[in-house]
Amino acid sequence: MVDLIVGLQWGDEGKGKIVDLVAKNYDIIIRSQGGHNAGHTVVVDGKKYALHLLPSGVLNPNAMNVIGNGVVVYPKQLIKEINNFDKNIKNKLLISDKAHMILDHHIAIDQAREKLRGKNAIGTTGRGIGPAYADKIARVGIRMGELKNIDKLIEKLAHYYEMNKGYFEYLGIDIPSIEKLREELEEYKKALGDMIVDTTKYLWDNFDKNMLLEGAQATLLDIDHGTYPYVTSSNTIASGALTGSGLSPKKLNKVIGIAKAYTTRVGNGPFPTEDIGSDGDKIRKQGAEFGTTTGRPRRCGWFDVVAARYAVELNGCDEVAIMKLDVLDGFDKVKVCIAYEREGKIDYFPSDLDKVKPVYIELEGWDKSANVTKWEDLPNNAKKYIEFLEDKIGSHIKYVS
Ligand code: IMP
Repeated sequence: MVDLIVGLQWGDEGKGKIVDLVAKNYDIIIRSQGGHNAGHTVVVDGKKYALHLLPSGVLNPNAMNVIGNGVVVYPKQLIKEINNFDKNIKNKLLISDKAHMILDHHIAIDQAREKLRGKNAIGTTGRGIGPAYADKIARVGIRMGELKNIDKLIEKLAHYYEMNKGYFEYLGIDIPSIEKLREELEEYKKALGDMIVDTTKYLWDNFDKNMLLEGAQATLLDIDHGTYPYVTSSNTIASGALTGSGLSPKKLNKVIGIAKAYTTRVGNGPFPTEDIGSDGDKIRKQGAEFGTTTGRPRRCGWFDVVAARYAVELNGCDEVAIMKLDVLDGFDKVKVCIAYEREGKIDYFPSDLDKVKPVYIELEGWDKSANVTKWEDLPNNAKKYIEFLEDKIGSHIKYVS
């Protein structure tokens, strides 16, 4: 049985919290796309863990964790995260030999290109994600399995640097010294080599176990279906998780979509319900909306039903979790975007969100929903808000956080 957790907005919906909540029901937790651009913080027994690359199951003593073929792995970061644990977690982690590697030059390229884009910058996390996926698609990438033969890998990289000499020069990036690179790769092999296997085969051999695919980033950042070019470089939607793990669509049991009770976005790109006034500020403050990976303040605004319905459909959600409802506590009225306006009304999510204006309806606010643990105990207006969203997005809201 394979279940999947996916973000329905522009990321940071609180997927990690739901994963932590349900992780104990699963034997294998799988990351299938993205890299260390993702991030979530978990506190266990008073110790804080910032996870970027490691699947959340590392905090569950009984679960196996898989970094699937669709992930881009920055070995330095992965080693750092592994070493941050007091106990050895290496016997609980497998890394796909087909997963692509991020090297320092990918990070340098990402940052240099963002600088050159100036006001048109995407606002990437600067972690080398785009350049590593670009190399993968151009068929010049490096797979984790290649660490097995470092001589051959060095030869390949030397050729890569030679081919890209002009590009590196243009971007003002130094080509790394081969000696230093060899040292680094040897270190990666020593630290990670034993965990690098064919994870597709491992998953197939373990179909009798319960598996959870843990999504990173979110639907509206999908390279195909998101707000291109202001997206990440992987397929973040449910079907991408299957490609990124080697699991067949027929194995998928349940898709759980995660959305916040409002909307946030980090980085640039269209965001129809963004509120740049006092309401947005209040949401940011009450929701502590600052990035886990980069610390950037998140752009904040109201719930967008059009975008959420699109995301529910793209992912085939069986159920939805609405997170951080209590951040909206204390508003007299809460707004919900139910359609867009651009030369008339549109009630679907267009391929470009250019010049789209939100059409809002206002619902009555509520005083306090924080610390409530039973549906019956929620204020009436908060219940009405959730029921309204459920009706509009077309999926059952099973969890409210
Ligand atoms: P990249 O993934 O670093 O290339 O960044 C591309 C876009 O995706 C930027 O707008 C980032 O802010 C956004 N992004 C990437 N990862 C996350 C995430 O985990 N949460 C929220 N936004 C993200």
